[in-house]
Amino acid sequence: MAGSPRTLENKTVLITGGGSGVGLECAKLFASEGAKVIITGRTEAKLMTACQDISNDCQYAVCDVTNSKAVNAIFSQTVNILINNAGTILRKTAMETSDAEWASVMDTNVTGVFNASRAFAQQDIDGGAIVNVSSTCGQVGAAGLAAYCASKGAVDQLTRTMALELAPRNITVNAVAPGAINSPMLFSKHDDKAMAETAIERNLDSIPIRAVAEPQEIARAILFLARERHITGTVLSVDGGYTAQ
Ligand SMILES: NC(=O)c1ccc[n+]([C@@H]2O[C@H](COP(=O)([O-])OP(=O)(O)OC[C@H]3O[C@@H](n4cnc5c(N)ncnc54)[C@H](OP(=O)(O)O)[C@@H]3O)[C@@H](O)[C@H]2O)c1
Repeated sequence: MAGSPRTLENKTVLITGGGSGVGLECAKLFASEGAKVIITGRTEAKLMTACQDISNDCQYAVCDVTNSKAVNAIFSQTVNILINNAGTILRKTAMETSDAEWASVMDTNVTGVFNASRAFAQQDIDGGAIVNVSSTCGQVGAAGLAAYCASKGAVDQLTRTMALELAPRNITVNAVAPGAINSPMLFSKHDDKAMAETAIERNLDSIPIRAVAEPQEIARAILFLARERHITGTVLSVDGGYTAQ
């Protein structure tokens, strides 16, 4: 019905990187709304455990988002909502970043989002939604995260462009831009254990509401964007005021 949000009952929702963190919370939330959830990632054991946690209807597929053939294969079944959540981080300045490291971040964070979004768009369907998990790093710089910032900026631009391309088919394309989240990436790839252990405390001073997000808070923003029909091409900050400064 015009003006009402999309219902999720029996809709198929594909969540990349759905075995942990934000992706896993999304999977639980969408399943609780009656959606059929498919989660993907590269680690089968993690996906199996996550699926048991999510619902009886949950499916998983081992799939590296950088492999377009493997991504295309998942779309042998119709997907109504795509959540591009899989991502990786590199904690290095531009000067320190090797060719291989740059390529790896771009492959996962940009080409991965492109692969799944293109496969979604190539389905013979009208209606639906793509929600990309970007970052504040797509909008403002962060010294020491050169490749990551560049990759999330590219995600924001792909979001806006695909929103325009798919609007005639009533497919919305949006992104969430979280700041620091209490989920695995915040604690990963640090130089040493102490840096990982203090990751939350070190972020608090720069966040106006003085808290990092819980993954459930990001999942609720994603659900909102997945359901609304009149919001497209937007990058929604979910960052406790970080980018308002
Ligand atoms: N945590 C934060 O502070 C924060 C802040 C802003 C934005 N984000 C964004 O939030 C998203 C989720 O991150 P998270 O914090 O929930 O961390 P996470 O648990 O590490 O989530 C990343 C997920 O992506 C999967 N993945 C990584 N590379 C992949 C690949 N090549 N193909 C398929 N799956 C892949 C991982 O599973 P496998 O390793 O098993 O494949 C993992 O399940 C990311 O896009 C991240 O950039 C996080």
